[in-house]
Amino acid sequence: MNQKVIAIDGPSASGKGTVAARVAAALGWAYLDSGALYRLTALYAKNQGIAWNNENEVAQLAASLPVEFIGQTILLNQQDVSQAIRAEHIGMGASAVAKLPAVRTALLQRQRDFLTHQGLVCDGRDMGSVVFPQAALKIFLTASPEIRAERRAKQLNIPLESAEFQHILADIQARDEADQNRSVAPLRQFPDAELLDTSDLSIEEAVKKVLDWYSKKS
Ligand code: C5P
Repeated sequence: MNQKVIAIDGPSASGKGTVAARVAAALGWAYLDSGALYRLTALYAKNQGIAWNNENEVAQLAASLPVEFIGQTILLNQQDVSQAIRAEHIGMGASAVAKLPAVRTALLQRQRDFLTHQGLVCDGRDMGSVVFPQAALKIFLTASPEIRAERRAKQLNIPLESAEFQHILADIQARDEADQNRSVAPLRQFPDAELLDTSDLSIEEAVKKVLDWYSKKS
């Protein structure tokens, strides 16, 4: 049976989080940013002095993350870490801990618990393939690496001709490479997912497309 879930997977900085949150708001459904859980795990391990490749200890932390989601605010151990988890090096840490099977297992049920009777829109890398395989609608949302780097640079007020822009592009390409080539839950478009390339779409157009697909399914 289909679950009342819209699963949006895709590479980093593709805009899937913004699109997913807006679709959730339009439908009055809950929203899960699954990447935040991997980022929280990486930050928590760093704060506790545990190396990102220490699978057992990082998995234990993941299983017991003292986290609270209050609207847009994310508290870890009662401290607001909403900004801290977005740092690029924490993104790399998230990618490192996400490679570990025990960490993914520790976070699995936690992600499923976000589903309420109203419905859930979630975004990540394996929402449609592993976490919610019965999702009513699965989407692979992407854009070219250059467009994603440009969007990130604009958010951070970084000029496109700068060396910093080249760093952003290189980080995005490195994270794509790591996420696509890992052995557990690699990032890829599965045959049952709709492809949404947002390179030439505004956020509003992307949101409308998702809502149109969902209304045709339901
Ligand atoms: O989506 P975001 O960039 O916040 O995710 C950070 C990292 O967490 C990704 O690069 C990826 O390695 C990992 N991740 C994952 N599975 C998810 C969500 C995120 O492996 N469902």
